Amino acid sequence: MKTVAPSGLRPRLDTVAGHAPKGSRVADIGAGDGQLALRLAQDRASLVIATEWQAGAYLRLVRRLGGLPGFDCRRGDGLSCIGVGEVEVAVVAGMGEHTIGRILSSGLERAKELRRLLLQPMGPTAHLRRLLERLGLPLTGEDLAWEGGRFYQLLIVEPGCPGLPWDRERSPLGPWLSHRQDEGARAWRRELRALSERRLELTPADKRPPLACLLDQLGQLDAPQEGSGSP
Ligand SMILES: C[S@@+](CC[C@H](N)C(=O)[O-])C[C@H]1O[C@@H](n2cnc3c(N)ncnc32)[C@H](O)[C@@H]1O
Repeated sequence: MKTVAPSGLRPRLDTVAGHAPKGSRVADIGAGDGQLALRLAQDRASLVIATEWQAGAYLRLVRRLGGLPGFDCRRGDGLSCIGVGEVEVAVVAGMGEHTIGRILSSGLERAKELRRLLLQPMGPTAHLRRLLERLGLPLTGEDLAWEGGRFYQLLIVEPGCPGLPWDRERSPLGPWLSHRQDEGARAWRRELRALSERRLELTPADKRPPLACLLDQLGQLDAPQEGSGSP
């Protein structure tokens, strides 16, 4: 898990950049201040289309990136400003999972033509994960970044590829992230368990069972294995 990025890019965005295939044409949807778009163009992408929906943010993007080789800045909502076959990869990062979900639902036809989507919500991902299944967008990879005292999940979707098999009961946090064994992933799971315990205390008794079930599943993920020598 990236905690410091040698590229100088913030670790959250560096994690996203690392999953863009070299030489690909990339759309950065909701590019914000353009940091990631800039890094992608310098390091790996043959073309970056940086988009913004807000007028002010779009103007700042144009001031920063407009006219540089390898960039195209566009104003529009989600994938609607990307034409057929213009890019192979789309990044949708730094928004809530519901906003990312709306961008995928409204641009589904375009999304399904892409080779890879890199989705990095700012918080939970449970809603987005269910939506991906409903939309027929297969999750083929996951990653985790740590920045500013927070964890960020990255969901990698590759339309046309077989998705990771996912048993929700055994892997409540996602097919791969549930079981990753590095210290960063373990710390993330501990944090989620602590959060769920606090939420359980605040939840009315009749609404507790699903949360209690999730806590039970989380408890099993890092339970000491028999014969591991742990107490
Ligand atoms: C918090 S910034 C994130 C910037 C950058 N992607 C990152 O991860 O750091 C979110 C940006 O997404 C833009 N945005 C939100 N909804 C959008 C949409 N439907 N289409 C394009 N941009 C959108 C906002 O204007 C805002 O600048």
